[in-house]
Amino acid sequence: MTVKNFQDFTEKSKLGYPEFLEKKLQACDDELFKPRKNGKPLVIGSLTPDLGAIMLQSNDYLNISSHPFIREAQLEVLQKAGNEPVMSAVFLHEGSDKYFFEQAMAEFTGYESSILCQSGWAANVGLMQVIADQSTPVYIDFFTHMSLWEGVKISGASPYAFRHNDPVHLERLIKEHGQGIVLFDSLYSTNGDIAPLIDIIEIANRYDCVSVVDESHSIGTYGPHGAGLVASLGLSEKVHFITASLAKAFAGRAGIIICSKNFAKYYPYMAFPAIFSSALLHYEISGLQATLDVIKKDDFRREKLHENAEYFREGLRNLGYNISSQSQIVSIEGGLESDTELLRDALEKRGVFGSVFMAPATPKTRSLMRFSVHSGLEKSELQYVLDVCETIREEIGMWNWKSTRRKKAE
Ligand SMILES: Cc1ncc(COP(=O)(O)O)c(C=O)c1O
Repeated sequence: MTVKNFQDFTEKSKLGYPEFLEKKLQACDDELFKPRKNGKPLVIGSLTPDLGAIMLQSNDYLNISSHPFIREAQLEVLQKAGNEPVMSAVFLHEGSDKYFFEQAMAEFTGYESSILCQSGWAANVGLMQVIADQSTPVYIDFFTHMSLWEGVKISGASPYAFRHNDPVHLERLIKEHGQGIVLFDSLYSTNGDIAPLIDIIEIANRYDCVSVVDESHSIGTYGPHGAGLVASLGLSEKVHFITASLAKAFAGRAGIIICSKNFAKYYPYMAFPAIFSSALLHYEISGLQATLDVIKKDDFRREKLHENAEYFREGLRNLGYNISSQSQIVSIEGGLESDTELLRDALEKRGVFGSVFMAPATPKTRSLMRFSVHSGLEKSELQYVLDVCETIREEIGMWNWKSTRRKKAE
């Protein structure tokens, strides 16, 4: 059973604001809250999951967030008093725990160095601020994560978006605008498809561009002992920078830039998120170090993850859903927001919870329900979700969705 969600979105604060701000808040009301049946943004459903609900929202793909070894590593450090780095990482020296974790991550991925950041967002924004400026053309896959787009904006560089996963279009743009930086995700967080890494990197290198691959959703889940897709494809010496959120398979609160030793020397003194924002605390770093040990050792979790993901993707495809995923991120594209709303409600009523993605995370008419599969799920739980998806097809109008018609036309 699920319980009613009690957040009240109609409540107004007594403290008023000047008109320019009230207008902005009103626009959010009009565009996000009011169009929905429950008066809440589409990403918030009407029901709150109870204990028996099937949760397909977490990015803890290897199901390790409450692993006792990781908890103990954090607790041990928390219980030892003193010397927290409550300051910017710019003041930390080579012998710090941050430094040792960075060395371990570099070795894990086959690089010389890495830079631990406060989040994946900070890593991407900081990196772009350092490597690009107004004179740099930046080639960016249209679906690349918003943090890299924001980084481009902050750097003042000109972005040239290439069509999603289309190396031919990338090459045409580079020929037109010249040497620059190529940015893309290895595994896309909205629909779970995987970039043609070998082809994109070959083009980036042929035109002597700098390459940045965001491996947030593939580090820990792909490659030898989880080293990621770049490592698994033998590209470690061809990709300049890997960035990643450590809030996915690493189930923590941090980000990382994986790079050359030379670059790591400059970053702390050039990147604003490194200079003007505080470093991670000791217990967080010891948790991450323990997590890395678990990730490297537990191949069985990756095997189960990929087995589960394949079972789920194929099950949905067999039911007629248009699934473009090649990974553990499996999305159903309702398309219009009203259709995704129907889908969300039909699932929630039956105790299944995914995450709604809508503008600005997707184009306005391509909203979707994202399911994140993890290694702790039993086949019977996935089968239950598949049975629900089978039952609701008429109720949600799935056969008439644009995404379904696109699949039929293929
Ligand atoms: C591809 C990608 N890059 C970067 C980030 C940002 O990571 P974080 O949540 O650690 O700031 C995310 C998280 O949504 C992501 O999916």
